[in-house]
Amino acid sequence: MILTLTLNPSVDISYPLETLTLDDVNRVEEVSKTAGGKGLNVTRVLSQLKEPVLASGFIGGELGQLIARKLDDADVYHAFYNIKGETRNCIAILHEGQQTEILEQGPTIDADEARGFIHHVDELLTKVQAVAISGSLPKGLSQDYYAQIIQLCQQRQIPVVLDCSGSALLAVLKQQYKPTVIKPNISELSQLLGQQIQEDIESLKTVLANPLFDGIEWIIVSLGANGAFAKHNEQYYRVSIPKINVLNPVGSGDSTVAGITSAVVNHENDQTLLKKANTLGMLNAQEAQTGYVNVSNYQNLFNQIEVLEV
Ligand SMILES: Nc1ncnc2c1ncn2[C@@H]1O[C@H](COP(=O)(O)OP(=O)(O)OP(=O)(O)O)[C@@H](O)[C@H]1O
Ligand SMILES: [Mg+2]
Repeated sequence: MILTLTLNPSVDISYPLETLTLDDVNRVEEVSKTAGGKGLNVTRVLSQLKEPVLASGFIGGELGQLIARKLDDADVYHAFYNIKGETRNCIAILHEGQQTEILEQGPTIDADEARGFIHHVDELLTKVQAVAISGSLPKGLSQDYYAQIIQLCQQRQIPVVLDCSGSALLAVLKQQYKPTVIKPNISELSQLLGQQIQEDIESLKTVLANPLFDGIEWIIVSLGANGAFAKHNEQYYRVSIPKINVLNPVGSGDSTVAGITSAVVNHENDQTLLKKANTLGMLNAQEAQTGYVNVSNYQNLFNQIEVLEV
């Protein structure tokens, strides 16, 4: 079983509007409310792959309960840790082909809750063979919080796929206990290194050889419509993907993380891991819904991906 961690989940509300009129009333007919947060996207894709998965993170208040109920309805196992704060809402207004988002910051985790969750995760680790950690840290947690979780996983020799950015990622890279896989996109990688990274093979090879990444088995840089570039130990791979019709690429990275984690837990080879990851990213991009993949198109896309050692 795979454990997914979403430390700052949300109830995502989508408001489709013909036009958004500022400083006036906008009435919405079709509202959709889903359990959101990057780790929950990963969870949904894993469950569509029929991969046994357990979701955890912090939830609180009525909206926290709504998340638990939504996962129950989808037959997804979960073991969230209850906090005093209230789980947040994130609102996306879809209008005139644009998307305007209003994102609440979410609750603050207090010191007892932070400690309690570490124990909670340690118990969950007795039941799982891999962990996927996604998204930003909620307020109140120290920047090395993911590092603490990774240390627990390492003690049990459980591989970790980490998808976060900025200071939370930097804190992990600077400490002793490393994740097995990180999956920055190109802008997250540029932000991390404080320079604009070019997408050509030589630039990416040079960048990924940076000592900052020492000790991390896999670095997979996702490149949106351009596929991916990866380093596995001392090997480098360029992943080329076919052109596809894209409906909504939001969450493609999360789907990629689902594919990586599934391949890790099933001990798949490098080629299969990279193809699975990119296939799921593409399948997500072909759907309107975030964190949804149509698995019946899986094999067709998988067969069109080329993984070249460079
Ligand atoms: N426009 C696209 N066309 C084809 N494939 C895509 C497209 N966007 C994403 N993908 C696929 O999904 C993978 C991950 O996408 P991307 O690099 O956009 O991740 P991301 O920026 O982390 O996304 P997010 O954080 O929104 O989940 C890509 O490596 C690719 O395989
Ligand atoms: Mg991403």
